[in-house]
Amino acid sequence: MEYVIETHDLVKQYKSKYAVNNVSLHVKRGDIYGLIGRNGAGKTSLMKLILGLTSPTQGSIVLFGDKNADKGRKKIGSLIESPGLYRNCTAYENLLRFSMLYGTDKKQITPILQKVGLGDTGAKKAGEFSLGMRQRLGIAIALLSRPEILILDEPINGLDPSGIKEIRDMITELNAQGITFMISSHLLDELAKVVTVYGIISDGRLTEEISAHELQARCRRCVRIVGDDAQKTCSLLKTAYPDAVIDIENDEVFMSSHLDKTADINKYLLKNGIAVSEIGFTEGSQEEYFIERLGK
Ligand SMILES: Nc1ncnc2c1ncn2[C@@H]1O[C@H](COP(=O)(O)OP(=O)(O)O)[C@@H](O)[C@H]1O
Ligand SMILES: [Mg+2]
Repeated sequence: MEYVIETHDLVKQYKSKYAVNNVSLHVKRGDIYGLIGRNGAGKTSLMKLILGLTSPTQGSIVLFGDKNADKGRKKIGSLIESPGLYRNCTAYENLLRFSMLYGTDKKQITPILQKVGLGDTGAKKAGEFSLGMRQRLGIAIALLSRPEILILDEPINGLDPSGIKEIRDMITELNAQGITFMISSHLLDELAKVVTVYGIISDGRLTEEISAHELQARCRRCVRIVGDDAQKTCSLLKTAYPDAVIDIENDEVFMSSHLDKTADINKYLLKNGIAVSEIGFTEGSQEEYFIERLGK
């Protein structure tokens, strides 16, 4: 498996506080990796370590398979905390200044502005931008160096619903064009619609890495069966699966195990005279899954 970001037993200690505690994380090329944790969990500290803005107390960082992380960092763009912008300049002028600073080609400024949805802001100064627009301008600056990875710390924090959607859409679009993302949030809702892999961080520790797909499967709690005779369905299932926990609610039957057996269950019930009109899964709450794991 090729990882573009790996950390090995990474530790960042501030006096007696372990901001990052033995973190080994894995980001694959093409991922939208969502680092989720409460305020103070260590998200920003971890991102700063990966970006080389602070140095680890212990452990190592491997970028693009290379232990010399400084080399890989040239291919990473980032937005940590609020972007430093020239408030009296337009979006274009901001990018022009950073482009000169970084020595990048100024021909890409207009296409980048379009990519982040700031193509039409004309003479408007950055100081008059909404929070969402400033955030997108910050991301545009990070794109100047044509990064393969973008690390964004709480890019959605404080935005209104339309601002949230704009940033999400932009992330999805840039990801489709090949950019790998690592983004952080303390709110699940903000991440849920874009993330492909979650890293759950609690009190400095990475407690779990789980793909969105796997999460969905894990939150599938019950087989739900709708048919013409709930009582009979229930007793048939109890005969076939004596160890299963089966409930009836509003004439629907729920079974909290054998989730891989829906086809067999369907056949079995039909054979025994039940008219099954629906068989599927109930989704457990992903919110609950995280709340159990995010810690205090
Ligand atoms: N420069 C620092 N000096 C001392 N403690 C710090 C410093 N930076 C972060 N911390 C502490 O490390 C912990 C993690 O902080 P942070 O990485 O900012 O969390 P998050 O970004 O998840 O909110 C917090 O308890 C914070 O107070
Ligand atoms: Mg933070």
